Amino acid sequence: TTPTLTDRLSQVIRDVPDFPSAGILFKDITPVLADPALMRETLSSMAEPVVGAGITHVVAVESRGFLFGMPLALELGVAFAPARKPGKLPWHTVREAYTLEYRSDVLEMHEDALTLGMPGAGRPRVLVVDDVLATGGTAAATCRLVERLGGEVVAVSVLVELGFLDGRSRLPGRRVVPVVRY
Ligand code: PRP
Ligand code: MG
Repeated sequence: TTPTLTDRLSQVIRDVPDFPSAGILFKDITPVLADPALMRETLSSMAEPVVGAGITHVVAVESRGFLFGMPLALELGVAFAPARKPGKLPWHTVREAYTLEYRSDVLEMHEDALTLGMPGAGRPRVLVVDDVLATGGTAAATCRLVERLGGEVVAVSVLVELGFLDGRSRLPGRRVVPVVRY
């Protein structure tokens, strides 16, 4: 039988122990980026659960989230808006602090991120995108930013979910859709 997309992704995603610090098992997704056919299939798989869900914006998280978020926005034909590390965005911002596996940080979005690209009246319907869901701190902060900007988080789409870190506990009531789960 032909291996599933999940099987093929698991085969190429590389485990790097003790990076960036002792005790962390880092999932290296760069081999996925290096395979355009696999990447295309992965993006289709990430888009599929929200086709027809009236998504108006993809919001993705600097930096690895951008690698999946922008092509997903193009695939869905919707606006892209970045959530960035502090001090990077030039316009008026809203910010949220969060803690993750190996540090704490801040994410910012432009105040007008969800009004730009809004096709009409009504509430922006947002797909939040990142490469990895670990402790869930990053995704939770991004969802809070989206809601503070008046958006509705329709789903959180990730390439990899590290299920053993229970990131979903920080995303109660949210629809979390991974392609690969460990
Ligand atoms: C990594 C990863 C996710 C986040 C997941 O990003 O890309 O964004 O951590 O962790 P969490 O679920 O525990 O919050 P990182 O902040 O290391 O930066 P990068 O994307 O710029 O590499
Ligand atoms: Mg990241």
